[in-house]
Amino acid sequence: MSVDRVKVTVGVCGGIAAYKAVEVVRQLQDAGFDPHVVMTRAAEEFVQPLTFAAITGHKVISSLWSEDAGASGGELSGIEHINEAQTTAALVVVPATADIVAKFAHGIADDFLSTMYLATTAPVILAPAMNVVMWQHAAVQANLATLRERGTTIVEPGSGYLACGMVGGGRLAEESQIVAAVGEVLSKTPATKDLAGETVLVTAGGTREPIDPVRFIGNRSSGKMGYTIAEAAQRRGARVILVSAPSALEAPAGVCELVRVVTSEEMETAVMQRLGEASLVVMAAAVSDYRMAEVATQKLKREGPRTLKLEPTADILQEIVARRRPGTLVIGFAAETEDVLVNGRAKLKRKGADALVVNDVSGSETGFDSDQNAGTFLTAETAVALPVMTKAQMAERILDEVVRLRAAREQGIGLRA
Ligand code: CTP
Repeated sequence: MSVDRVKVTVGVCGGIAAYKAVEVVRQLQDAGFDPHVVMTRAAEEFVQPLTFAAITGHKVISSLWSEDAGASGGELSGIEHINEAQTTAALVVVPATADIVAKFAHGIADDFLSTMYLATTAPVILAPAMNVVMWQHAAVQANLATLRERGTTIVEPGSGYLACGMVGGGRLAEESQIVAAVGEVLSKTPATKDLAGETVLVTAGGTREPIDPVRFIGNRSSGKMGYTIAEAAQRRGARVILVSAPSALEAPAGVCELVRVVTSEEMETAVMQRLGEASLVVMAAAVSDYRMAEVATQKLKREGPRTLKLEPTADILQEIVARRRPGTLVIGFAAETEDVLVNGRAKLKRKGADALVVNDVSGSETGFDSDQNAGTFLTAETAVALPVMTKAQMAERILDEVVRLRAAREQGIGLRA
């Protein structure tokens, strides 16, 4: 299945860190983006345009006027800056030299990159890299302050050994940090309103089942994934109802109704009460599978070995599938620690949901409590890999897949009718 990737323009400037832009481009691809590269003339002294053309499969643009080398051959680029500026979702400059920072801050447009900057309304992300004294110079800092004020995201350089032999600030941020910043920025930009008209019911957080007045059975879910999906769905035009088990997170912006629950039973009641309103349900909550057969009314005393008698809770997802109104899409999550895809497929069938986002929660980099996630969007017919990315990016990708699934189902219904 072909997936439309979001186009991101990577501006490469002439600095010793220019070679690191190659890895940034690769990681952007891994994160699901379609990077296009624009180089300054000075950048070409450090890295061959052909390197970027080969990796991206797109022509590399470096001049406003001349023909450029690239995968698809040369082409006059006189008005290409306008096209590039208007079709890209973000402009990320790696490395951003003192020179480009100054040009952007002052609106100087004397090459393709600086002209494109003026012609774009897409968010701009700069990853500066330069000598530590230059970095600390009042002129550079003043230019950066101007750009920040204008909404530009600056991926702060780190400290360490610099190519010039000095030690200090000015070293290009880690490639993964730059890619994460792109994802973060894009997840916050107003997306297409492709969920307008939908009412999305999202569950999040980890339920707590009381053992006695002070203890509970809980899990490591932070609520991040569900909260980010709620926020993203709202930005995409949906009316969002969030049913949240305990989470330390602040209420997501723009949610129409936030229902706080503690136990799986409370979550079940809250969800079932609102199911009729929902055209899409996303069960991102980590719901306890068991609860105490009987909750102790007094704090349990320490008295040698003890066995707790547990009983299963209701499977809310299965209940939603059984009681939804026709046309309501139901998306679940599957947390797995082994045989992730095999178990995911079995779970999808068992639960009857339209799709499951299958996560491997055995790693520490992704899953519970982490800011990153990775998984597979699994339907009866397809399996779309979602590589490691921030949860904000993941939320967008999941919703992209949901929109696609909705379109496919509607076509299917149309065909059968
Ligand atoms: N879920 C639910 N009600 C439960 C347990 C889970 O609605 N009592 C939902 C979760 O919100 C998630 C999906 O079911 O969307 C899968 O959850 P998961 O914990 O992976 O699966 P379980 O059904 O608990 O199966 P197992 O623990 O055996 O892997």
